[in-house]
Amino acid sequence: MSAPIAAAVGQLRADGFAVVSGVVTHALLEDLRAEAAALVAAFDDGHRSDNFWHFTRKGDSAPVLFRIHNLQQQPGAPLAAELFATGPLHHLAERLLGQPARARVIALIVKMPHVAAAVPWHRDRVDAPAGSAINLSLFLDDSDADNGCLEFVPGSHLLADEAVVDQVCTAGPVVPVAAKAGDVAVHDVRVVHASRPNPSARTRRSLVIEFALATEST
Ligand code: NI
Repeated sequence: MSAPIAAAVGQLRADGFAVVSGVVTHALLEDLRAEAAALVAAFDDGHRSDNFWHFTRKGDSAPVLFRIHNLQQQPGAPLAAELFATGPLHHLAERLLGQPARARVIALIVKMPHVAAAVPWHRDRVDAPAGSAINLSLFLDDSDADNGCLEFVPGSHLLADEAVVDQVCTAGPVVPVAAKAGDVAVHDVRVVHASRPNPSARTRRSLVIEFALATEST
C-alpha cells in the first residue's frame, strides 16, 4: 500500500474522512468535466426529470440544479456510468475499506456559482457499522471554503446511531476540507458532515459514489 493511501486509511478510521490527491487526472478528468458540463447545460436548456434535483430561491424563479441522481442511468453520462461500474474509484474504495466493495449509487453534485445553498449537517446513514460504507467524492473543480467545500466533525462516525447531529456539530470541532480537481475526498457514511454555500463565481462539481463492503447487505 502506498504511503498516501496508508495515511488516508488511518485518517478515515480515526476521523471518518480523508483526502487522496490526484486520483483521476489528465484526459479522463477533462472528459468527466466536459460530460458534467453538458449535463448541466441540458438542465439549463430545460431538461427536467425526477433525477435532476433542483430548488428555487426565494424571490427568484430560476431553478437551481444541485444533484443529478442515478447518474449512471442518464443519457449523456457514459463516462460516469463506466466510473460507477469499474475503474479507479473501485480500486481506491477497496484499498480504503480493506475488502472487496461494491458501488451502490452515483450522483453528480453541483454547486452553482453565487446561488448554491449549504447542505445542512447530517449523517448519510447509520444502518451500516463504522468502516463498512464510504462515500467517495471525486472533485471535478477545485473546492475550498469559498465555493462550498465539505465540512466534518472528526470522529463523529464512531458516535451512536442516536447521536443528535445538531448537538454534535455545535460541540465541534468543525473541519473544512479543501480538495483540488482530481482529488477524492472520502468519508464514512456515519460521519457528521455538511457543505457550505457557494457565494463565489466558481462552480464546484463532484461525482459522489457510495461504496459498501461486498458482504454488507444494506
Ligand atoms: Ni452527505
